[in-house]
Amino acid sequence: MTGPFSPYRLAGLSLRNRVIKAATYEGMTPGAQVSDALVEHHRALAKGGVAMTTVAYCAVAPDGRTFRDQLYMRPSLVPQLRRLTDAVHADGAAASLQLGHCGSFCNNHDLERSRPLGPSRAFNKLGALSGRPIADAMSSDDIERVTNEFVVAATLAREAGFDAVELHLGHGYLLSQFLSPATNRRRDQHGGVLENRARFALAVVERVRAALPPALPVLAKVNLRDGFPGGLELDDSVQLARWLEARGCDALVLSGGFVSRDPFYLFRGERPLRAMIAVEKSVAQKVALALFGPFVIRAHPFEPMYFLPLAREVRRAVRLPLVLLGGLTSVEHLQIAADEGFELVAMARALIHDPGLIGRYAAGQAQVSGCVPCNLCVAEMDRPGGVRCARR
Ligand SMILES: Cc1cc2nc3c(=O)[nH]c(=O)nc-3n(C[C@H](O)[C@H](O)[C@H](O)COP(=O)(O)O)c2cc1C
Repeated sequence: MTGPFSPYRLAGLSLRNRVIKAATYEGMTPGAQVSDALVEHHRALAKGGVAMTTVAYCAVAPDGRTFRDQLYMRPSLVPQLRRLTDAVHADGAAASLQLGHCGSFCNNHDLERSRPLGPSRAFNKLGALSGRPIADAMSSDDIERVTNEFVVAATLAREAGFDAVELHLGHGYLLSQFLSPATNRRRDQHGGVLENRARFALAVVERVRAALPPALPVLAKVNLRDGFPGGLELDDSVQLARWLEARGCDALVLSGGFVSRDPFYLFRGERPLRAMIAVEKSVAQKVALALFGPFVIRAHPFEPMYFLPLAREVRRAVRLPLVLLGGLTSVEHLQIAADEGFELVAMARALIHDPGLIGRYAAGQAQVSGCVPCNLCVAEMDRPGGVRCARR
């Protein structure tokens, strides 16, 4: 049986159905610590019926944080995370940890270095008004160091009880900055042709895969397209998918978008500019958003299952399990994904709206989500209480 509510085995991990809660930065980690709210957030998702919940982007090192109040992996975090994974397991779900590094997209005032690092020297738009306007190019030693940080972080994630890790190769963060021709202008073995631009990401996946037991799935979240001219395009991502499959990656989460260039390509739907201005802490950023937001933040209309046409091309090219995401909200969408050959799906906003949705779907008590793509949750993650549906 291949319906959305049938069990699935990913590497050695038994999932009770095909639905993963996608990583959504929770904003519930003040001081880079696991809060009760974070544990309760994921407990509710587990109780609500998802097969696996993903804790959002835990940086692999302190300087890999986009924001200061974001988790970064270290031995003292392991018991805190263990509390979360125990809670998720007690409600019958699996837990995955998304591991990432912000690269040159950084608004963290507590950097150990004077400047953030990325593939090439770059303007750091996010930190421009708060004193970190320039990012430096990484040396080969930096690349090796960060590769090791991914490996150590993945090993600690396992110690903390996570059943899977998801490596963030998309959305314009560090590994995506290397993959994208728009942000990678290097002239060494990490720049130029796709094979070079992919070298860092592939090494991270290969080394993390080798460091963990084969039964523990290693997923990669990748861009189908960066979403702007000059960025990574579908032909590149199809090739990347083939290489990731050959490196032993267990599943690909198919996404797109580049937060520093065109953030709403990733989400589609309304741009919650007023709410974004309200939650912004820096006065200069507030003014910049009010003046330029409507022009620099492009609008992208919402369509159900908006990545499906691109994702089909990857489906044709590889055999490893694929996770379809992007505008999946109803039982019908989940069934279409299964019929189109996607082993798994991931959902973000519909589960922020209602963490109990999948349980209700599986029990036949509901068919559609009440989530409208207002994207107020995107602004909510920056409020003190963290991410929530502002319409409930
Ligand atoms: C509030 C919010 C925070 C997000 N944070 C992350 C994140 O930390 N890492 C990530 O890979 N994607 C993040 N995303 C993107 C989602 O994982 C997902 O790719 C996107 O919302 C599309 O799925 P959906 O249509 O089911 O919402 C975030 C989305 C939202 C709404």
